Amino acid sequence: MHTLENVSAKNMDIKNNKILILGASTWHIPWLKKAKALGFIVYATDWSKTAEGKDVPHHFSPIDLRDKEATLAYAQKHQVGAIFTSAEIGVQTAAYVAAKMGLHYHSEKLAFCATNKFAMREKAQMIGIDIPGYQLASTLAGTLIAAGQIGFPLIIKPVDNFSSKGIYVINNQDELEKAFFKSIACSFDGKVLIEEFMTGTEGSVEALIKNGVPYIMGISKKQKSSLPYRYDLLLEYPGDYSPAQLALIKQFVNKLVSGFEIKNGIIHIEIMVKQLEIKLIEFAIRGCGSKVVTHLMPALTNYDVMAYALWNAFGIQKPILFSTKNYGVLKFIMLPKGKIKHITGKETIRKLPGILDFDIERKSGDLIEEIEDGRNRPGYLLAYSENKKELNMIVKHALTALKLEYQ
Ligand SMILES: Nc1ncnc2c1ncn2[C@@H]1O[C@H](COP(=O)(O)OP(=O)(O)OP(=O)(O)O)[C@@H](O)[C@H]1O
Ligand SMILES: [Mg+2]
Repeated sequence: MHTLENVSAKNMDIKNNKILILGASTWHIPWLKKAKALGFIVYATDWSKTAEGKDVPHHFSPIDLRDKEATLAYAQKHQVGAIFTSAEIGVQTAAYVAAKMGLHYHSEKLAFCATNKFAMREKAQMIGIDIPGYQLASTLAGTLIAAGQIGFPLIIKPVDNFSSKGIYVINNQDELEKAFFKSIACSFDGKVLIEEFMTGTEGSVEALIKNGVPYIMGISKKQKSSLPYRYDLLLEYPGDYSPAQLALIKQFVNKLVSGFEIKNGIIHIEIMVKQLEIKLIEFAIRGCGSKVVTHLMPALTNYDVMAYALWNAFGIQKPILFSTKNYGVLKFIMLPKGKIKHITGKETIRKLPGILDFDIERKSGDLIEEIEDGRNRPGYLLAYSENKKELNMIVKHALTALKLEYQ
């Protein structure tokens, strides 16, 4: 791998090597470890004082990632030289702190557009990015009027949540009346979007940005949950798009990056592809979750993606050197309903060649119920190979090693 770590000792062209990372749960541990390996002094926050990664950074404080003032006070107290987050919920706070302290991060305007689904739609429309029809609502009456304009089927979603929480596909008024209350309860701001239901194949684009230029690491094709839920079940890199579709996806990425004025860092874009039409589902100014950015992208590109992003937090853009040759997959492991008696095979699977990571976040005695959103998927598998056929074999073989018994 082209490692960027070896430049750390020499590259103290930064005077202040303290970095504040927002988020210390399991998913953030790779970032905390990488920041330490690069030689930075690492401060971290998380709402939970027992966050799994709390002992990884040099310093930790239990601060809610949404708490802008407390995060700013912590950052100022320790005079950090950089701020970074891989958590969607931390993006606006990071932008706020960066603006107050003159650190390198996305502008507050971009942070808002990238995390508020209504603001994102408004800006996308302004810059000519294809999107579904949409309406904002905060009451049931308003939602019904909006539905009259959009038509069924439609999507209802909170303007400011994630992991597909509170997102439903709706076919008629009865369903809408029930879903409205569930959906609005998931909005911090008390607002929902009513959107035209797009059809097609879903995909995602993972890219690094350097001085406004996107460098694409991977373009996936997805398999989704069955309706009415809309969480991901499988992401395959690279997705098998036609050359014409790939050219359009790249054009789409360029237009989005320049239109939203994204200067540096990592982005994750979700798209709907229907023949030669590409529409925006949403994008994020952080890496794709579920270890795609921390595990899968480095394996696909043979490039130190996390080091790039962390140096970028100090305003230093390292050279981007990669060619994407490998195949990769993120598969969510869904389990049948019932009460688990035993799970075995986890350790065996993790050690298999080509497996980047695997986990079933359930234990004996846990009840598996209907999975409604991405946050409650029971497990995941990340694998890669130089050869697509071999990758399919790796995944198949790994899954046979998982043994589950129900009570
Ligand atoms: N207008 C739409 N038409 C069709 N499907 C949609 C639309 N909006 C959202 N979806 C589906 O719902 C899923 C979740 O929507 P979205 O990405 O906006 O929300 P999210 O809460 O950020 O979810 P996640 O964290 O899972 O990406 C999308 O991946 C897509 O499958
Ligand atoms: Mg999404």
